Amino acid sequence: MARAATVHVCSECGACSAQWRGQCPGCGAWNTLVEEHAAPAARARGRSGAGGPVARRSQVRVLADVGGSPLQRMSTGTGELDRVLGGGLVPGSLVLLGGAPGIGKSTLTNMVLAHLEDAGRGTLYVSGEESVEQVRLRAERLAVDGGGAGALGVPVLAETELERVLEVLAERRPQACVIDSVQTLACAELGGAPGTVGQVREVAARLLRVAKEQGTAVILVGHVTKEGALAGPRVLEHMVDCVLQFEGERERPYRELRALKNRFGSTSEAALFEMREAGLVEVLDASARFVADATRSPGGVVLASMEGSRPLLVEVQALVAPSELEQPRRVVSGLHRNRLALVLAILARHGRVRTGGCDVFVNVVGGVRLEEPGADLAVALAVASAAHGRPLDGAPRACFGELGLTGELRWVGHPERRLQEARRHGLDGVIAPPGSGPGAAEAPTLRDALALALGSLQTGAEPPTDGLRGARRLAA
Ligand SMILES: Nc1ncnc2c1ncn2[C@@H]1O[C@H](COP(=O)(O)OP(=O)(O)OP(=O)(O)O)[C@@H](O)[C@H]1O
Ligand SMILES: [Mg+2]
Repeated sequence: MARAATVHVCSECGACSAQWRGQCPGCGAWNTLVEEHAAPAARARGRSGAGGPVARRSQVRVLADVGGSPLQRMSTGTGELDRVLGGGLVPGSLVLLGGAPGIGKSTLTNMVLAHLEDAGRGTLYVSGEESVEQVRLRAERLAVDGGGAGALGVPVLAETELERVLEVLAERRPQACVIDSVQTLACAELGGAPGTVGQVREVAARLLRVAKEQGTAVILVGHVTKEGALAGPRVLEHMVDCVLQFEGERERPYRELRALKNRFGSTSEAALFEMREAGLVEVLDASARFVADATRSPGGVVLASMEGSRPLLVEVQALVAPSELEQPRRVVSGLHRNRLALVLAILARHGRVRTGGCDVFVNVVGGVRLEEPGADLAVALAVASAAHGRPLDGAPRACFGELGLTGELRWVGHPERRLQEARRHGLDGVIAPPGSGPGAAEAPTLRDALALALGSLQTGAEPPTDGLRGARRLAA
């Protein structure tokens, strides 16, 4: 009997190798090659037609001569999601939605299909993980007031075999289809377990062909690994038009949706949702909630940040405590660790706030993740305020600005929108970089910002370190 042909596929980049190797010849990653059955690619392509024998010669065309209607988009019924997608779901596009287990991927996609079904568009929900009964239970919950009556009208197919799914798609030709999840579908021809590199790639490639041929918008739900990356080969991210990441903390109801890649829109937009019994609810005025919850205690500072094109006020909290460790802890949540290290170094060098012997914890309240440099000043002021045990001086304040390595405060984008948002929520004294416009308390350097925020205490004073010395004495 002939031995089944196998090939070694890299789980990072999808490169193939006949023999096993420690290092992938494609991307150089170590220990990423896994043995899989060779794909009957030629056969598969021949049968589905798209990549088979060339029946029609492709032509070179000048773009100006290419006709075409403007991009038609379908509203998902959720303004926040539409914004992240760049204005709605594009027919014939392939969207990959990733997120940790239980974050709400199925809930969100169910709600989208419910709205589209309500709007009279054909839909299909393919569930490889849950039975039809389970999907119905969720739909009943959503139908209470979240997804409308449409949630119960969505056609559901509980199936894990790719061929059957393609058959149903060809029969029904829906305008939108959800595959929940891409890791549970398997192509019988290929062999091997679902979720393997080869399977995920083949499933996505065949669905991509159907999406483009039929004009069906396909949302692929994807699992993420422990490190937060989408499970499966990176090639999957290259194949799709849009990669959405659903994030949040399990203990908190807030969920954030971001576009990591978008061929039809910006990737700087983020949407905020709240998980409730009746499904995911858009948080339209997140600033109001975060400002109302802000503590105004030592270590708490309100940041006027930008989430894509939208201003958002969030509280940044810091705790500075004497450390008993050789290497004090630096713990961050909602921020890059390296950014905190940089801010602490600038604070020590240019602000005389030294935290060398202390543990420093920084948290962005509400599970929000800050990715913009404008957050630097809020982190610096929160740490300084925590180190001194003093809340910010004066009226309720907000701040924003990037810190330069020489201690200067640098201009960041959209100052007028940030100021306006702060004013709208009653925060008048906004500490901002020079050039931010009228209404801002402009500070050219970190020293000036510290003086504005913490007043006389900060004129060259070191943070009180009695507690720290006491802890050291005790340790000795
Ligand atoms: N009755 C309820 N009230 C409030 N929240 C609920 C209720 N039932 C479920 N949830 C929330 O919905 C979440 C599950 O949502 P969903 O099934 O959409 O997640 P998922 O990302 O698809 O998960 P998986 O990775 O397991 O497929 C739960 O973690 C919980 O937070
Ligand atoms: Mg699910």
